[in-house]
Amino acid sequence: MLFFIQIASAIALVLPQVAAASPKCGLVPPSNSVASLESSSGSGVSSTGSGELTDVLANGWYPGWLANDNPPSNISWSKYTTLTFAFATTTPDVNTVALDSISQQALPEFVSQAAANNVSAILSIGGWSGSMYYSNAMATAQNRSAFVQTVVNLVNNYSLDGIEFDWEYPGKQGIGCNTVSSTDSANFLSFLQELRQNPTGAKISLAAAVSITPFVGSGGQPMTDVSAFAKVLDYISVMNYDIWGSWSPTVGPNAPLNDTCAPVQDGSAVSAVKAWIAAGFPADQISLGVAAYGHSFDVSNANALSSSKSLRLYPPFNAADQPHGDSQDAQAGTDECGNPTPVGGIFNFWGLVDGGFLNTNGTAANGIDYTFDNCSQTPFVYNPTSDVMVSYDDATSFAAKGRFINDMGLKGFSIWHILGDYNNILLDSISNAMGIESVCLSS
Ligand SMILES: *[C@@H]1O[C@H](CO)[C@@H](O)[C@H](O)[C@H]1NC(C)=O
Ligand SMILES: *[C@@H]1O[C@H](CO)[C@@H](O)[C@H](O)[C@H]1NC(C)=O
Ligand SMILES: *[C@@H]1O[C@H](CO)[C@@H](O)[C@H](O)[C@H]1NC(C)=O
Ligand SMILES: *[C@@H]1O[C@H](CO)[C@@H](O)[C@H](O)[C@H]1NC(C)=O
Ligand SMILES: *[C@@H]1O[C@H](CO)[C@@H](O)[C@H](O)[C@H]1NC(C)=O
Ligand SMILES: *[C@@H]1O[C@H](CO)[C@@H](O)[C@H](O)[C@H]1NC(C)=O
Ligand SMILES: *[C@@H]1O[C@H](CO)[C@@H](O)[C@H](O)[C@H]1NC(C)=O
Repeated sequence: MLFFIQIASAIALVLPQVAAASPKCGLVPPSNSVASLESSSGSGVSSTGSGELTDVLANGWYPGWLANDNPPSNISWSKYTTLTFAFATTTPDVNTVALDSISQQALPEFVSQAAANNVSAILSIGGWSGSMYYSNAMATAQNRSAFVQTVVNLVNNYSLDGIEFDWEYPGKQGIGCNTVSSTDSANFLSFLQELRQNPTGAKISLAAAVSITPFVGSGGQPMTDVSAFAKVLDYISVMNYDIWGSWSPTVGPNAPLNDTCAPVQDGSAVSAVKAWIAAGFPADQISLGVAAYGHSFDVSNANALSSSKSLRLYPPFNAADQPHGDSQDAQAGTDECGNPTPVGGIFNFWGLVDGGFLNTNGTAANGIDYTFDNCSQTPFVYNPTSDVMVSYDDATSFAAKGRFINDMGLKGFSIWHILGDYNNILLDSISNAMGIESVCLSS
């Protein structure tokens, strides 16, 4: 039975009055039953709500390496159902994964604060630069058993609620020096099935961060049937970002919602969700990965602005001059493979405020050109003095993605990364668009 209390921040204050009933409190989408009790709630937006606290996934990645300046105590815990600590990385030894020293120190505090806030604490293994040895860990029956034990030890040691496998990518190269095998996806599935046989593995949450096309099969093409993965994973987070960037022929959207209406089809939330569902992955086990950051490009005034002085979409840019991003942007250097890398050119959403592109309320600042691409449903800003154009996400684009999540009956969202936001402008926008609210359920 449902016992509706109050929305959002009032929960903590209201709870003592119902403590005797020992309610379970958390975030839900407006299910029919909740909506009928709550007059102001948006109607008809959720297709999944049954009043269970686990119905909706409000998830984000916490970048553990930034924990010194942004400790777990600074997380807006009440706005999430799940948080994913990034990253533990694969090592040449199948018996161990690695955590940098800052992460190692922060992880226990992250887990205990998550528990205190009824938020699931997930540890992500891998990432762009941490997936080098995944293929080896999955390669043989012996290694898979060993890696199952490695994961179980990790879960037990840190009291984790789950593990996310952020293997970038099974069966195809990522950063450039990962071991890759044509049997990666098949081995990954065998590994997950074995992990589920383990008493610890059976009871934790298992997730995967995935690209916008399904796992590739032995021929290197996306598999046409990934339904077996859905039986062992609780959900996947589709990393629908970095679709356009410095490697692209022109400026384009970092995180397009749609691309069927675009001049070039390079992928989007629409195409990604369609592809995963077509391959047999249920919509309600798909979380949409959303970006609290943007990519910068050097674009001349002549290319950026039309004769009427409005911003052009897909303008050419000067690839030889990658603008610096915000103060957390990666410097030029050498990557984990030993290859030279340029500056990242990444602006977190707060970095766009910091850099004078946006006002503190998230709108374009004075003297900054702005446009909203109606196909990708994402914004672009341009500083005509510095020639820097940024493709990013704002409250409007996050709201559009939230409506899409509900329309498609997806599980929820996963924000890369939660420290990129500014005053929770993006998080609040997507949550509000989805009608997510805090409720307490009587037991
Ligand atoms: C977490 O849930 C427990 C019981 O379900 C409840 O007593 C407690 O107040 C909740 N804490 C928060 C921060 O919601
Ligand atoms: C918490 O984060 C905000 C920005 O969201 C920052 O201004 C503040 O300094 C942080 N506090 C701590 C204790 O790190
Ligand atoms: C199995 O794991 C070990 C490391 O523990 C690694 O040296 C070996 O190459 C792996 N086997 C395969 C076939 O990748
Ligand atoms: C277990 O956790 C502690 C910190 O709580 C850490 O020092 C240790 O390395 C961890 N061991 C394993 C096997 O993860
Ligand atoms: C994507 O674009 C196509 C073609 O314009 C349109 O029919 C469809 O409704 C759009 N989908 C979303 C979610 O915007
Ligand atoms: C956002 O802030 C700017 C600058 O302070 C202000 O001009 C604008 O009206 C604000 N917009 C909204 C929607 O609050
Ligand atoms: C997007 O649509 C809005 C509303 O229909 C319109 O005002 C705006 O000019 C369009 N943007 C572009 C870049 O075409």
